[in-house]
Amino acid sequence: MDQYAVFGNPIAHSQSPNIHMHFAKETQQAINYTRILGDDVEFENQVREFFAKGGKGLNVTSPFKERAFAMCDVLSERAELAGAVNTLMIKENGELFGDTTDGVGMVTDIINNNQQSLKGKRVLVIGAGGAVQGILKNVLDESPLSVTIANRTVSKAEALAEKFSCLASSFEDLEGAFDIIINGTTASRSSSLPPLKDELANESTWCYDMTYGKGRTIFLQWADDHGATGTDGLGMLVGQAAESFSIWRNVQPDTASLLASMRQQLE
Ligand code: ATR
Repeated sequence: MDQYAVFGNPIAHSQSPNIHMHFAKETQQAINYTRILGDDVEFENQVREFFAKGGKGLNVTSPFKERAFAMCDVLSERAELAGAVNTLMIKENGELFGDTTDGVGMVTDIINNNQQSLKGKRVLVIGAGGAVQGILKNVLDESPLSVTIANRTVSKAEALAEKFSCLASSFEDLEGAFDIIINGTTASRSSSLPPLKDELANESTWCYDMTYGKGRTIFLQWADDHGATGTDGLGMLVGQAAESFSIWRNVQPDTASLLASMRQQLE
């Protein structure tokens, strides 16, 4: 049976095995997918060993996405821009291929599951870490009117803005309401919010939090308080997995029923 796995540290919480085994059942693919705790020192050797033993594909999650990127012989264009990979496979000629599916997972979730469009919109992206770098190309590909990156450390926002040809700002300098606000900071996880001005969101604003959890995240509560609407990143998690699955297996799984049942479990 073809072997797949996800590397991360920590890894026990990862939903990826459940998601991929669901896709496998639905598309009638005979695969096995496990969690592997990545080792801080041995990560690269662990990856090599996995493939040497005949493993077919890997997902890589925090904190190894940049290290996996550095190991690759060949990268997709989007992975090159993201500076990180979450999907690995061995090509027929033996080269290690790396791709990132986070951005397509998020944008597909925004468009298909939430019926929102980025085209012609004034978009604010909060945060300038690895997660944001991984989604910017996909956001820009949707032809928004503008994309502004705001970050606590403004120099990081400026570096990304230069790389992706968009705008950078401090939180204080942001002005007016945005059509779409995407939160890519890790602040939500520690239940804190960047200093977002009241004027940034109103009834016409739609908000997306790249993290997810039980109930509304602190960022989505902020959106609610400002009359805005929006959703969390559960659909991004399922969407990035679907894209990885299709890279490995050449078949696009359906995500809607799985997303609905995972949402129900979180309520
Ligand atoms: P990831 O790979 O998950 O994106 P990261 O690269 O460490 O993680 O990036 C974390 C992001 O969350 C950064 O933009 C960080 O802001 P700084 O660049 O100023 O550190 C942002 N962040 C984390 N905690 C925050 C907080 N309490 N308030 C505002 N921004 C925060």
